[in-house]
Amino acid sequence: MIVCSCNVISDFEIEEAVLGLLEDDPWRLIVPGHVYKEMRKRGKCCNCFPNVVQIIERVTERFHRTLGTADADRTAAFLSNLKAEHRRIVEMRRARREAAAKQWKKTIAA
Ligand code: FES
Repeated sequence: MIVCSCNVISDFEIEEAVLGLLEDDPWRLIVPGHVYKEMRKRGKCCNCFPNVVQIIERVTERFHRTLGTADADRTAAFLSNLKAEHRRIVEMRRARREAAAKQWKKTIAA
């Protein structure tokens, strides 16, 4: 399934990029920008980022489950931090989008 229509990137390609990053460093906090850089792509409209975030979380959880890390507390804390960081990114993007829309309305009203 295509996740990013600007760059025509599928969910499979994103999963592969995330796995590559996790194999380099299983404890890396991966954000959409890292995934796009790994694929040598750039976010354009970035509307796909919330879906990319979900894929990162899903793949990271599966990766750590498969890895069978002995320290379950560390894994749970890591996944919690990852999700908190992703929520922060998604919220920041939403706020930027709202600010841009507000600015646009002011511009066309003037
Ligand atoms: S849909 Fe991914 S950058 Fe636009």
